[in-house]
Amino acid sequence: PKTRHFRWEVANMFWSPDCLENVVMGINGQFPGPTIRAKAGDTIVVHLTNKLHTEGLGIHWHGIRQFDTPWADGTASISQCAINPEETFVYRFKVDKAGTYFYHGHYGMQRSAGLYGSLVVDVADGEKEPFHYDGEFNILLSDWWHKNVHEQEVGLSSKPLRWIGEPQSILLNGRGQFNCSLAARLGNGSSSLCSLRADAQCAPQVLRVQPNKTYRLRIASTTSLSSLNLAIGNHKMVLVEADGNYIKPVAVDNIDIYSGESYSVLFTTDQNPSKNYWISASQRGRKPPVPPPGLTFLNYLPNSPSVPTSALPQSPAWDDITASKSFANKIVALLGLPTPPIRHDRRIFLLNTQNRIDGFIKWSINNVSLVLPSTPYLGSIKHKLKGAFDDKSPPETFSSNYDIRIPPVNPNATQSSGVYKIEFNTTVDVILQNTNALAANVSEIHPWHLHGHDFWVLGYGEGMYSEEKHGKQLNLKNPPLRNTVVIFPYGWTVIRFVADNPGVWAFHCHIEPHLHMGMGVIFAEAVDRVKNIPDEAIACGQTGKMFMHNHHG
Ligand code: C2O
Ligand code: CU
Repeated sequence: PKTRHFRWEVANMFWSPDCLENVVMGINGQFPGPTIRAKAGDTIVVHLTNKLHTEGLGIHWHGIRQFDTPWADGTASISQCAINPEETFVYRFKVDKAGTYFYHGHYGMQRSAGLYGSLVVDVADGEKEPFHYDGEFNILLSDWWHKNVHEQEVGLSSKPLRWIGEPQSILLNGRGQFNCSLAARLGNGSSSLCSLRADAQCAPQVLRVQPNKTYRLRIASTTSLSSLNLAIGNHKMVLVEADGNYIKPVAVDNIDIYSGESYSVLFTTDQNPSKNYWISASQRGRKPPVPPPGLTFLNYLPNSPSVPTSALPQSPAWDDITASKSFANKIVALLGLPTPPIRHDRRIFLLNTQNRIDGFIKWSINNVSLVLPSTPYLGSIKHKLKGAFDDKSPPETFSSNYDIRIPPVNPNATQSSGVYKIEFNTTVDVILQNTNALAANVSEIHPWHLHGHDFWVLGYGEGMYSEEKHGKQLNLKNPPLRNTVVIFPYGWTVIRFVADNPGVWAFHCHIEPHLHMGMGVIFAEAVDRVKNIPDEAIACGQTGKMFMHNHHG
């Protein structure tokens, strides 16, 4: 195994992600940030310098479990202090498992500002993937607003709430086309055909392929808001990986991908080689008007890289939840992967509701909306500091009388920074229960992401979860291991994980505005077993004061 060093500077800069010039948060002058490529077992060392001038910084390595390095998880107020302007923080962690990952800002709404990039881990030398391919591509999906992130954030924190609205563009590897359409020649409306120089910042990254080969396409989504569906014109795909874990290969026509998820698919270039073929990423789950699909295409060599003349590939209708559920249920673990313990030691029920606190709109879990403390939990819990956060743990369950089909009868919630304390090596089940939002007949999709772990997805269902009715239907035989899972409108999802990774881990909705509005919980897992937290990770707030006292005797 190797140690791979990176020196990164994060700064705001002018960029044209969708052909319109704007300000994005870039790394070393690039948007998206540089791709990290490593092999399983390698150690990654990122020297991250904050050149933002006016705000703190933190980068989370999404899908990397951070065994033995919980302070490198990159979550401001949770695993570390935000990195101050002009300061450098060193992230050092092991990438122990091959797979498709990414990284992104985890302070405020820096992901929406464009702070993200890809992290791809290949199998270790001498190891083989359980499938074959001739070449590979990587697509990181994101969504983009013309309104800057501060305006978005103020809108979400205002009374009345000013909703950010739909993104203007869907980006593939940071590239979209707002004021022109790659597909305009197909006659869909008013937008003019793009005449893009191949070196324009918003020019699509075309996938050049040879006929009759098999390719691996890695896809990850770091969208702020959008749920997407990816399709390749004329080509079938075979899903083989989800969130860095192998799955039983399954053929699909298109892929649903929620924020926080990643997949690998294989496709074979067996179509008419005289043509090129579209790849589209369309928004779903939200009522139109929505942004046009993000586009690029397969360029069969030796054809010229001109846009395809065919129609765009078909994605399911935006509100076809049945298609999404059937897609989700197709994903099971590859034979031979670890199966879950058959029993849980603890069960936590989390009711997802939209609420009001003093007239501000919030998202809450068991009626508690998450606010983060100024001292990172990892340090304050390890050093047993009093008063650094609310010492009352949030509720483990909710009333069985709650009617998930209607808006909350009592919409008032409370704010708290309390944590769930989790004992070492216990098996924990979490039942995520969706509900109706504040408006009648609205229930949204929420992709939940767990830090520090993969979990088994034991099942999805409709309505209110009931142990009697649904307990027996859970999949303990071959549930997929993942780090992100969706709860469908008015539905429930059950996951199981083993608390084998001491640290403080966020579990939250990966929709950035939702997290900002409180949609998350904190698991404080066997923190007494965490050893040697570097001082610089927690030199702020109460832990910072503690260091000062210690040093001055
Ligand atoms: Cu990719 Cu806490 O998130
Ligand atoms: Cu959400």
